[in-house]
Amino acid sequence: MTDTAETKTPFHLRGNYAPVMEEVTAFDLGVQGTIPPELSGRYLRNGANPKSGWSPHWFAGDGMIHGIELRDSNAQWYRNRWVQTRSLNEPKARMIGDDGSVDRTIGVSNTHIVGHAGKILALVESSFPCELSPELETIGVHDYDGKLNSAMTAHPKRCPITGELHFFGYGFFEPYLTYNRVSASGELVQSEPIDVTGPTMIHDFSITENHVIFMDLPVVFDFDKAMTGDMPYRWDDDYPSRVGVLPRSTGAKTFGNAHVTWFDVDPCYVFHPMNSFEDTDGRVVMDTARYLELWREDANFTNHAALHRWTMDMTSGKVAESALDDRSIEFPRIAESLVGLENRFGYAVASFEDENSLVKYDLQSGASVAHDFGREQIPGEAVFVPREGATNEDDGWLMTYVFDKPTNSSSFVVLNAADITGAPVASVQLPQRVPFGFHGSWIAD
Ligand SMILES: [Fe+2]
Repeated sequence: MTDTAETKTPFHLRGNYAPVMEEVTAFDLGVQGTIPPELSGRYLRNGANPKSGWSPHWFAGDGMIHGIELRDSNAQWYRNRWVQTRSLNEPKARMIGDDGSVDRTIGVSNTHIVGHAGKILALVESSFPCELSPELETIGVHDYDGKLNSAMTAHPKRCPITGELHFFGYGFFEPYLTYNRVSASGELVQSEPIDVTGPTMIHDFSITENHVIFMDLPVVFDFDKAMTGDMPYRWDDDYPSRVGVLPRSTGAKTFGNAHVTWFDVDPCYVFHPMNSFEDTDGRVVMDTARYLELWREDANFTNHAALHRWTMDMTSGKVAESALDDRSIEFPRIAESLVGLENRFGYAVASFEDENSLVKYDLQSGASVAHDFGREQIPGEAVFVPREGATNEDDGWLMTYVFDKPTNSSSFVVLNAADITGAPVASVQLPQRVPFGFHGSWIAD
């Protein structure tokens, strides 16, 4: 590729962002080190992989899952599969009709993949979920028996206490935000429209033991940008930055829009919270990877996010803000067993110039340590998997795909979360390059 051609090719179609064009299946992959024998299941990760080879934006490509199955210390298989969406198979299908109707069975399902109530769901925030088999075959759109009337965020939250799945949908048209709750057995049991200031982009949210937390932030829908095929959102200096706390409904007690307490915060944008919880004084604490601005007309996407804390006092209505770190991070994750509960440890991808690492935060001590992959290896989001019977929060492993620049190849890497700076516990060379993607899950057997 010439310099000129490279310059003209957008970043999301170059290097390890470029899509792969083959669906590969490989069995009994070689393992360096030892895969912990307790690990029995599949690590699945979603990402944008435009089948045509082109997409207008990184976030717009067709969803592709890269999966690896582990059993008895073996890497049983690797597979990559496009999610067989209507967007993929019916190129003329349009989500928004000429009459303004919205068809949420259409979408690229490219952002996350989660397990809940026995189903594996590929997610994109514009649309309904798409159910997949454990071998990554597409089963089809899942709309909760026709009850789902909004899109579903790619970042639902499973409450570790109740097993419920909490999520929301947002859109260009009113209601701009809808909160949904699914029972542990997979039945949609609550849908509440929530008032936000306008058609804001809401990528993620949080829960605590007793609350649901929404972000109403100044990246808003832009009709003119939508017409050009670009990401239809831009920063708006006139739009407020607010965080809303809604009590969770239990039993006969149902809470909705009228019960949301809003807190004004400094202008910012957040794709991903790390976690939220209630502290011993009943305050609602939310840790996020916070951008000071995003998609301003005169700026671009290179702004960095850093770990930031909002502490919301439900009695006084006041919020305290504090920076927890100044490092550039994204893709924060914690142990799934502590979603909504107080976590001591959090993990994130850190990048600075050519240094690439996975950082582990100790939020109790304020310290952090990192596994430095150096200049030539680039890790993606790391998923924490606990050791069975573990009593320490960080007793388990971190899993991710790592891209190796010199060989233009990828591996699956397992780190010891309790000793993240140490050499990987195991790594598996993959039969093809895994493009940089978004989010993944460990789906245990
Ligand atoms: Fe995300």
